Amino acid sequence: MRDGEAVGTGRGLGIDADRRAERVRLVEVVGGQTDDCFAEAVRIGLGSMPKWLPCRYFYDTAGSRLFERICDLPEYYLTRIEERLLRTNRREMVERFGTTPVIVELGSGSSRKTRWLLEAACARFGTIEYMPIDVSGPLLKVAAEALTDALAGLRVTALVGDYRAALDLLRKRRECPRLFLFLGSSLGNYERDSAIALLRHIHDASHAGDRLLLGTDLVKDAAILEAAYNDASGLTAQFNKNLLLRINRELGGRFDVGSFIHRAHYDAARSRVEMHLVSRHEQQVRIDKLGMVAAFSEGETIHTENSHKYTITELQELAAGSGFVEELAWTDEAGWYRVQMWRRV
Ligand code: AVJ
Repeated sequence: MRDGEAVGTGRGLGIDADRRAERVRLVEVVGGQTDDCFAEAVRIGLGSMPKWLPCRYFYDTAGSRLFERICDLPEYYLTRIEERLLRTNRREMVERFGTTPVIVELGSGSSRKTRWLLEAACARFGTIEYMPIDVSGPLLKVAAEALTDALAGLRVTALVGDYRAALDLLRKRRECPRLFLFLGSSLGNYERDSAIALLRHIHDASHAGDRLLLGTDLVKDAAILEAAYNDASGLTAQFNKNLLLRINRELGGRFDVGSFIHRAHYDAARSRVEMHLVSRHEQQVRIDKLGMVAAFSEGETIHTENSHKYTITELQELAAGSGFVEELAWTDEAGWYRVQMWRRV
């Protein structure tokens, strides 16, 4: 990976030369994953045994929209509980800082839950600089403009690119203190070793006194977890199958989406929900732009996502293992979800 490096401000992203432009900047960060990796990921993943695809490719425009709708599902408690914990405790969260923090968010998406926190930070400190990091430039631009319209004290410097490249860029900047946000149980998508590695990367990009606010889903009854990933309205199935449609759209794939079934199950031994796409019958699928044919036997699956669930003890071990100290933590009454604030030592 090349070192993160800002190559332009709002370049090619069509920021209007109006008042907003003074408060919203988009910076492209070079390095890490780029778009053409999708083709390579599909070639590798569908050529493997067992087949798999990286879950970050769920989030094209269609997939991001589907995910937004998943967040409103009755079965998908994660977003709702996290948003409530942020809303209820936001003053206490920002009050940990003696001086105005810069708020950096990893994988901000639409920033909809973050708004609560930004509002509290603006109320407490007057003006706040918010630096969301996301791979989708258009999504960042829309979110940043909505936020600056709503909050007079907010300035947004959005970093378009991969987390790691953006963190490398931030490491070189000196402004202190910083509040890093990593919400939505996104950490759950990482294998346990990679989770530690990413947290260490955040640690390396930060300075003493910086803090990390981390939202994580907790280990619980399998039935509740499985319902959250097998919703009655079938939205999660659509979200999962969108990966096949994306292969069709971008890589000339010939997937018949109807001949795959969405499956999500909780593996208690590994404390994770796994999502798969199961082939209903034996079939061969051509992918024109890759010049390949993927052969499926009946019942063969493509493993598309892992969502790891944590215990409180494991989370505290993660903090210690990555150079942080737990300062505060909030959990709902049912003990389903946890938001924790770690301080960098
Ligand atoms: C955004 C990764 C936290 O794992 O719960 C939602 C994605 N997958 N439904 C999760 C997702 C299926 C979500 N994360």
